[in-house]
Amino acid sequence: MTLLLILLAAYLIGSIPSALWIGKLFYKKDIRQEGSGNLGTTNTFRVLGKKPGIVVMLMDILKGTAAVLLVFIPFFADVAIHPLLLGIVAVIGHMYPIFASFRGGKAVATSAGVVLGYAPIVFISLAISFAIILKLSKMVSFTSICIAIIAFVYSVISYFYTGDWVFMLMIAVLATFIIYRHRENIARIKNGTESKVNF
Ligand code: G3P
Repeated sequence: MTLLLILLAAYLIGSIPSALWIGKLFYKKDIRQEGSGNLGTTNTFRVLGKKPGIVVMLMDILKGTAAVLLVFIPFFADVAIHPLLLGIVAVIGHMYPIFASFRGGKAVATSAGVVLGYAPIVFISLAISFAIILKLSKMVSFTSICIAIIAFVYSVISYFYTGDWVFMLMIAVLATFIIYRHRENIARIKNGTESKVNF
């Protein structure tokens, strides 16, 4: 029973559609109708601006981190579940949120939050790599895909040192989610029509 409850909690946390709620509550806009239509950080920056973009990014990151940290709540102390599995469930909630007709984001910020909760140093390295690749490419989608691949390669290398096969497997799942959710972006990158960030 507590196993089901902790899984449900992770899904519901991930399901919080920050971009939709911030847009509707403070700007009277449904960002699903504008820009790329995606319920994520990038589209929030694009449609609503810098401040709400930062808030949505932080909220979406925190969703992943909070899910991973659920195992530390005393009520769930007896549940035998790997924290990264809860992170995966939160990311599924983020992509298919019950509070937004199951049309959510592209898994990037919430996956980052999962990594932050489980391996903060890895998160910091990936965040720095993200900033560098974004500066060079000017495409958030391309950068996100690169980071997903870099994270997976890192997890494989670290497996040989730490033996943490769960981390490797879960990063593979998150990277697959991210690449799958960027199918349309990949098509646009290929034909040169993907939108770029103006620094
Ligand atoms: O985090 C999602 C980003 O990588 C792409 O978003 O709105 O440009 O499709 P968007």
